[in-house]
Amino acid sequence: MTELDQISDLEILVADFRRASVADDATSAVRILMEDVVSDPQSIHDIVPESFPNDMLLYEDESISIWHCRFVPGQTTPPHDHQVTAIIGIYQGTECNDLYEMYSGISLRKTDEIILSAGGVLEMSPSTIHAVSCVSIEPCCGIHVYLGRLTVVERSIFDLDNGCVLPYTEEDYYRIMNAD
Ligand SMILES: [Fe+2]
Repeated sequence: MTELDQISDLEILVADFRRASVADDATSAVRILMEDVVSDPQSIHDIVPESFPNDMLLYEDESISIWHCRFVPGQTTPPHDHQVTAIIGIYQGTECNDLYEMYSGISLRKTDEIILSAGGVLEMSPSTIHAVSCVSIEPCCGIHVYLGRLTVVERSIFDLDNGCVLPYTEEDYYRIMNAD
């Protein structure tokens, strides 16, 4: 499959998610579509160009942000929220989602752990706080869908080492992640 064919198939996938994002029950519609999409992991693997960076924004408008995300083995994101509904589907590798809740205003307490492998889907509410680790020997790859324009949403990132909450910025996200 040429990269042009891959991009063309990704555009079809993006159009499908865009339609789902404006359905009456957008969360259910996107989740059902995501479950269908990752039920055949190889078909997604085949249409993602290897040249993509680890975080690749495929499409965004007021209703939806669609990303292709790749986490390399051993990589762990800092805990963060999204402030919009998030639906994550995995087609390669395995990731561990540590879920947290905030207490005393600024401190985080881990409440759960969810392992997702190829074919797995995780739905998170706008207030969910999670950190993601790639726990497989191969990169963990997935399609991440957010029901809003994620790049402009005001949300939070948590610096566990320094015990502080920061307004989310890409700069702090990658700085904290790469410090691990
Ligand atoms: Fe996230």
